[in-house]
Amino acid sequence: MEHCHALDIAIETHIGSKGFHRKTVARETFCPRISMNAVKTHTFAGYSGGAKVLHWLIVALLIAQFVVAWTMPEIRRDTPVTTLISLHFTFGIIILGVAVIRLFVRVQGGTPAPEAGIPGWQETSSQIVHWLLYALLLAVPVLGWINADWRGMPIVLFGYELPHLIAARAAGWQWTGDVHGVLANFAMLILVGVHAVAALYHHFVMHDGVLKRMLPGR
Ligand code: HEM
Ligand code: HEM
Repeated sequence: MEHCHALDIAIETHIGSKGFHRKTVARETFCPRISMNAVKTHTFAGYSGGAKVLHWLIVALLIAQFVVAWTMPEIRRDTPVTTLISLHFTFGIIILGVAVIRLFVRVQGGTPAPEAGIPGWQETSSQIVHWLLYALLLAVPVLGWINADWRGMPIVLFGYELPHLIAARAAGWQWTGDVHGVLANFAMLILVGVHAVAALYHHFVMHDGVLKRMLPGR
């Protein structure tokens, strides 16, 4: 703009109830000739510390869980509950617990304002992937729990046996084992792959702040 002066103002705020850290850079452009101030605002917002800790804790737990799932003996009709199988149950129930807390934090706290300049279709598709991931974080362990019950395998967490959601060999629940494995091995891994590649693409190719929103520091 001709005959205009630009002034950048940085404002850092902590938005209390939601715990977000927000840095707003406002570029004020004064245009005396046309007696108008054009204000363009870019917002850089990050996830709350709690949301970040829960996100990366789940990533770490899932890595451990897949390593255990692929190493443990294949579970058949009379497979005994070995240490690795029992560890798979324990990690799985912990993931379920952390996912419930995470969902609660998400619903209460919402998300930071979208990064400036992100196209609408990316905003929408990322939200679809996020909600599918939340759904899988609940559905996969619950199906595992039902299937362990169906097989008559006790789920023992720190010495306490969890209640049974269904009776052993209850009619109509046999499918839960196959669906549990397919959702974990395919749906979850494919969606996590798309999600992680998108985050890395934003960081290394687009050079925007999408990944930084979920990293310590912002
Ligand atoms: C997010 C958490 C979980 C993930 C990612 C997960 C992942 C998996 C995977 C990948 C398999 C198939 C292993 C293979 O490829 O052979 C499997 C099998 C199994 N998991 Fe999980 N699991 C989770 C939670 C649980 C929980 C909480 C339980 C029970 C308390 C459980 C019980 C089982 C059982 C019984 C099988 C054998 C199913 C069958 O083949 O019929 N899992 N799990
Ligand atoms: C290396 C792997 C991963 C990377 C780099 C990554 C990165 C990110 C980033 C940057 C965001 C913020 C996106 C935004 O601001 O719009 C995010 C959000 C999210 N991530 Fe991941 N993530 C990874 C793995 C996972 C895994 C394994 C899960 C769960 C299965 C997961 C579930 C989510 C969910 C549900 C959100 C949405 C949070 C919300 O707004 O409600 N991520 N992730």
